[in-house]
Amino acid sequence: MTTAGDDRRGTRVVVGVGGGIAAYKTCGLIRLLTESGCHVDVVPTAAALKFVGAATFEALSGNPVSTDVFSDVPSVRHVALGQKADLVVVAPATADLLARAAAGRADDQLTSTLLTARCPVLLAPAMHTEMWEHPATRRNVDTLRVDGVHVMPPARGRLTGADSGAGRLPEPADIARLALLLLDGGDLPWDLAGRRVVVTSGGTREEIDPVRFLGNRSSGKQGHAIAALAAARGADVTLITSADLPTPPAVTEIRIESAGELREHTLRCASEADVVIKAAAVADFRPDHVSESKLKKGSRAEPNEIRLVRNPDILADLVAARDAGQLAPTCLLVGFAAETGDASGSVLEHGRAKLSRKGCDLLVVNEVGRGTTFGRDDNGGWILDSDGGEILVERGSKDVMAARILDAVVARSR
Ligand code: C5P
Repeated sequence: MTTAGDDRRGTRVVVGVGGGIAAYKTCGLIRLLTESGCHVDVVPTAAALKFVGAATFEALSGNPVSTDVFSDVPSVRHVALGQKADLVVVAPATADLLARAAAGRADDQLTSTLLTARCPVLLAPAMHTEMWEHPATRRNVDTLRVDGVHVMPPARGRLTGADSGAGRLPEPADIARLALLLLDGGDLPWDLAGRRVVVTSGGTREEIDPVRFLGNRSSGKQGHAIAALAAARGADVTLITSADLPTPPAVTEIRIESAGELREHTLRCASEADVVIKAAAVADFRPDHVSESKLKKGSRAEPNEIRLVRNPDILADLVAARDAGQLAPTCLLVGFAAETGDASGSVLEHGRAKLSRKGCDLLVVNEVGRGTTFGRDDNGGWILDSDGGEILVERGSKDVMAARILDAVVARSR
């Protein structure tokens, strides 16, 4: 997710902090941003300093902290910070802060900074569910989004007390992911609101015995990035995955192991979906027999071969299900092709052939092999459209690749 620190030298990020208990998590966000090389100025509200002291923010950012517009008057700090920033990110954005920002108030250093900023602004709300769902907060969020501010959907889960629900601050890494995407020139339009998106990610595991399985090198990072960004763009996202990665905020996760389980859940969820993105690396074969007990060396049952049988092609099944009217006729199907070039053709040529063979609408083609793509934070390749379009995506972060894939999904769905 992060690019080497030196790449961001000179990049100025303002981290605003609202007055909520989740302010303690913002320390982790500041750390991630400084480690990625950014110059960070922390601007807490007066209430935020009741939760975390100025000394903590100053030590983590390496820069002085002030809350009101009368601090450091000669440097006109209340406008200078916003004017010079490449990104303003506010975490936690409390209900009160959202209201003040939506109304265009400038009654402290942070709201003044928000009014003067001309760079991307990312707000990560955190509050109790009742506050988040209140019509006044809904209106404020809508107003901010119309004004071009990126308001993350909050995570669901444990809140301050014993209660849980929507309103939890997303984890620092989830906020940093979006912040760095915006710094990399990516956009986060609110263009998937109301769309149901199913994403599969990670490699499948085909059982040999209770201990062993056949697997592959897929880490799930690309599929998780797509799920995270689709949710950040307003989609109602279901992620079907085997990957040991944290669930992105505001995403519903279904855990699977085998291709059979993946198929069952994908077909069921697809019947109500507008888009299915099949980033999972599905095993083409599985052992034809699964041993009930562990296979032991030296025993009479010691195996000298594992016979394999073909797994169903889930993407082909989705195309067939759509043709048979079991999915919405407009349901967009996106496949992935992990290719290596060989004597019979280049990566792109294999990708083009796969797109017509598979019958999906979009195919993301990337080059794979040891040390490329699998498990790494970067990716590159092509997005092929069954209408004939080809988009080259230069090697960059998997978040940038995810953003480009979602752009292609939105363009194709128009
Ligand atoms: O044919 P290949 O495995 O290269 O195709 C990759 C695409 O097909 C991916 O989108 C993958 O999720 C999907 N696939 C599938 N079922 C399989 C094998 C691959 O849905 N059994």
